[in-house]
Amino acid sequence: MLRRALSVCALAVALPATALVPGGIASAAADDTPRPAIERYAPSAVPDRVALIPTEDPARSQRVSWRSNATAPKAQIIEAPAAFGDTMMDRLTPIDGTDYTRIVTVEATTSTVDPRTGYTNRYHAVEFRDLKPGTRYAYRVGDGTDPNGWPVTNWTAWEDFTTAETGLRDFSFVYFGDAQNYIDSAVPRVFHQAVLDRPKAKLMIHAGDLVNQTGVSDANLQIQEKEWGEWYGAAGYNNQTRNVLATPGNHEYNSSTAITAFWKPQFPFPANGPRAADGSPLEAVRQSAYYVDYQGVRYISLDSSPLQNGPVQNDVLVAQTRWFEDVLSDPRRPKWTVVTFHHPVYAGTSSRNNRIVRDNWNPLIDRYKVDLVLQGHDHVYNRGNQVKDDDATDPTKSHGAVYSISVSGGKMYELNAGANWSDNGARRRVAAENIQLYQLIDVSSDTLTYQARLANGRFFDGYRVSKPGAGWDVAKTVTDLDRDPDAAPAEHGDAQPTRTTLAAARSVVNEGEAVVLEARVAPSAAGSVQFLDGANALGAPVALDGGVASYRTSVLAAGGHALTAAFLPADGARFAPSSSTGLFVDVRNGQGVPGPKGDKGDRGDPGEKGDTGDPGTNGTNGRDGAAGPIGPVGAAGAKGEKGERGPAGRDALVTCKVTGSSSAQRVTCSVTFGARAASSRTRARLVRNGRTYAQGRISSLKPTRTIARGRYTLRIAYGGAVVAARVAVR
Ligand SMILES: [Fe+2]
Ligand SMILES: [Fe+2]
Repeated sequence: MLRRALSVCALAVALPATALVPGGIASAAADDTPRPAIERYAPSAVPDRVALIPTEDPARSQRVSWRSNATAPKAQIIEAPAAFGDTMMDRLTPIDGTDYTRIVTVEATTSTVDPRTGYTNRYHAVEFRDLKPGTRYAYRVGDGTDPNGWPVTNWTAWEDFTTAETGLRDFSFVYFGDAQNYIDSAVPRVFHQAVLDRPKAKLMIHAGDLVNQTGVSDANLQIQEKEWGEWYGAAGYNNQTRNVLATPGNHEYNSSTAITAFWKPQFPFPANGPRAADGSPLEAVRQSAYYVDYQGVRYISLDSSPLQNGPVQNDVLVAQTRWFEDVLSDPRRPKWTVVTFHHPVYAGTSSRNNRIVRDNWNPLIDRYKVDLVLQGHDHVYNRGNQVKDDDATDPTKSHGAVYSISVSGGKMYELNAGANWSDNGARRRVAAENIQLYQLIDVSSDTLTYQARLANGRFFDGYRVSKPGAGWDVAKTVTDLDRDPDAAPAEHGDAQPTRTTLAAARSVVNEGEAVVLEARVAPSAAGSVQFLDGANALGAPVALDGGVASYRTSVLAAGGHALTAAFLPADGARFAPSSSTGLFVDVRNGQGVPGPKGDKGDRGDPGEKGDTGDPGTNGTNGRDGAAGPIGPVGAAGAKGEKGERGPAGRDALVTCKVTGSSSAQRVTCSVTFGARAASSRTRARLVRNGRTYAQGRISSLKPTRTIARGRYTLRIAYGGAVVAARVAVR
């Protein structure tokens, strides 16, 4: 105590009122000036951005990466003792039998990131080797200063990790979709809640777009630097205590072919991916296409950006696909296989269509019976399977790979109607938008239990894969979960399980029309049903009558809605609560009109300066036109039909033209219903991917953002309704 008091006193005397503290931040008077990254995230002699990185053999080795200014970076490791502290400080006889002279010090290697980020970012990495399986170790990273010195200690605190067991053992891991946006505000609670729910999770998978900024200008690089600072800040100590396993997204690419300069120094993943002709790791996907075997699960990361960011890099596609098959056909392959890449096989938003990924990798996913496919990119939630893998007798079951799209960050896209799934032989079972999620996956010898939970911790979706027997190719059954598997058993005692199903009279309605929902609970029990739109309650709970509860609403906004029903038992001791799986209802704003014939897909939104939008993917889908109605989620979606008729049964003909420079654009449209032209004063809104690009009178729409030529939707106020028409802006 005396020593601590003296320390504080000495520090106060030593620092003048305006002195700089580490990090270069003035500590004098309060200052509301926003701090640029060059101040807020500047490296110092003290390590930061520490992350555990898996090796090829996580039972016997462990990598750690971090950042600091140190020129002689080092790491130390020891089998985790029961105590540190004065025993260490004074080099006394160990109190728990630990011989502290057995601390091993390892020299690090260093990689430097482009100094145009604002300063020289030095990332260091070590690999601890000859570790024992299933053993807890303590480690720290720092430099050449005395690790127990005072007042200078450029070392982290000791943190612990446990090496993998050999062979298949129960454990949990976490999967996150795109963090990317609002990383310093909306993302941290998602990352934290996942680890609060699974404090012993061994790995965290990030399915790409960890950050947002692309480009290589000085300004771009400085924003990237800031965002990586935010990302590590959001993860906090999670990264120091369990392995990070990440695959890059298009936002980790500074061009269609160049991965960000941060990736390789930060993430020294195994270089066991595709090989070049000379046998060395193929540089284009080194540390982005790799695999890790961890306690009975083979994790495979594929880099989808060289396929989908722009012109296909054919050599990288061929090399990755061949390597993917090698890794899947490997006789040493463990029982479970989890594949992660960024661009989804079946897209969940807009008219996205990742055909190259689907054509080349999905046949291998199918043939080699991959268990989970974890993806990102679309900023919505989707989960489903191939239709051929549906169970013939039970709609809650399937038997093949499960495909997920998720999002952890704050940028949200609109759901599409699921045509990219149904058009390609797949079934979207659950879909939602405007939610942030994390996914917990519990592994055991014969089951994988997957659950998606919302940022507030609420259970949202789940399923269990049952695969009894040995080997990766034994038969499996995937069963939807209709209740939270983490609900404490004590909460419901020996209560009888219940099952809630939800149906709607119509799955496609116009805005303002009634949606009638019917929930059924079996076995019949007293209680009520809460209907939900995503995470939001629809009205008050409805009392069950003979096991049935109905709800009618006419106020759903235009767009896709993922509706669920939650049974709330009157007697929780007798009956357990349960929730239905999601039901997708599409609310159209007005009556549809025929769309133009399918043409070549557009390239998505060009990234705008300062915008957070995804750079466009290489569109190849040409089947737009007004989408036909889809079936309810849970049934195969019907194929898109020809467009519906316009107002009063007349077709609409719409043309739009954009003129002027990008800084002073003007959009002029004309609309003809049958033989009659709409008034030039008719009001309309030009939208794409949920964003408004121009609005006002059709004769002179006022742009709200830069408009590129391409396909849009024009929403026209006509006859008291809103009519949507597809239009190519020229
Ligand atoms: Fe994204
Ligand atoms: Fe993306």
